[in-house]
Amino acid sequence: MSKALRILITSQKGGVGKSTVSANLAAYFAYISGKKTSLIDFDHQATSGKWVKKAYPIGINCQTVDLPNAKGSGVALLKAKEALRKSVDTMEVVIADLTWADVLPPDFLFEFDLVLVPSSLSRVELDSTLEFVNRFSFVFNSRLRNPPKLVIVPSRVDNLNTYEGIFSKSFNAGFFLSPPVMYSNSAGEFFGNEFFVMTSNQEIRENFLDFGRSIEQLGQTEADIRQSSKQAALTHKVSGSILDRFRAVRNSTPEPVPRTSANDAERMPVARTRIKAAIPSFLMMGRDG
Ligand SMILES: Nc1ncnc2c1ncn2[C@@H]1O[C@H](COP(=O)(O)OP(=O)(O)OP(=O)(O)O)[C@@H](O)[C@H]1O
Ligand SMILES: [Mg+2]
Repeated sequence: MSKALRILITSQKGGVGKSTVSANLAAYFAYISGKKTSLIDFDHQATSGKWVKKAYPIGINCQTVDLPNAKGSGVALLKAKEALRKSVDTMEVVIADLTWADVLPPDFLFEFDLVLVPSSLSRVELDSTLEFVNRFSFVFNSRLRNPPKLVIVPSRVDNLNTYEGIFSKSFNAGFFLSPPVMYSNSAGEFFGNEFFVMTSNQEIRENFLDFGRSIEQLGQTEADIRQSSKQAALTHKVSGSILDRFRAVRNSTPEPVPRTSANDAERMPVARTRIKAAIPSFLMMGRDG
């Protein structure tokens, strides 16, 4: 099975910065991290696809996929999954740009490791983001399947003081908050021309590098967790009889340790400790505001 990191950049709202983030995040992974990166543009206008195709070539593999807009036929899902599978098999990072329009079932979200939802911090956009997240909270909160991690990406931010707006909302799913992609007057001029991570404008470049690094780190954490849960499942399978399994569990169960505040940290499950260590302090977990 492929280990490609799969990132979906989506929102039901137009003009929030999906394509700008998609094209530039693809450039971050291809140019800065040197990863084999694919961009799948699911939008009719193919904004991010055109950007990548027109700009200085840095080796991003680009597919534009026009999804049929007949709901419920299942054709859109088949097409989308096929495009994804093609890239996932040969790439290290796959980034998909999609305006969510319900031609795809919510199940499609499970195809990804990270789901990034760009949103400005204006009340109207935050409300729309809240509606989107809460509608699909059952996906992000799923315990039956490995759910994607939800990342809210403050985009086109011109005033960091407006951050509190996010915490005043009642999100029904846990989410990560990425560093902001700041508003820039010249953002439009970059389209099809240059990438944020390559520009000589230091402010824009460093801002996007910060953002890219945090997403890369979160992706790495997710990959580690998946790897360890896969290994655990494998170990489980190879152990033979029920009696063998009972013995294995009995032998691996440590002696109970009396609880004191000093050893609380040690009692934390390994995965959680690792997540805490790997996630930059800027990324915060929020639930119910
Ligand atoms: N960081 C930014 N600073 C300033 N303007 C931005 C920024 N990001 C995006 N924009 C501008 O906002 C507009 C919408 O951006 P973009 O096309 O990336 O959004 P989108 O969500 O993909 O839109 P659509 O729904 O049409 O696909 C564009 O004019 C773009 O130049
Ligand atoms: Mg777009």
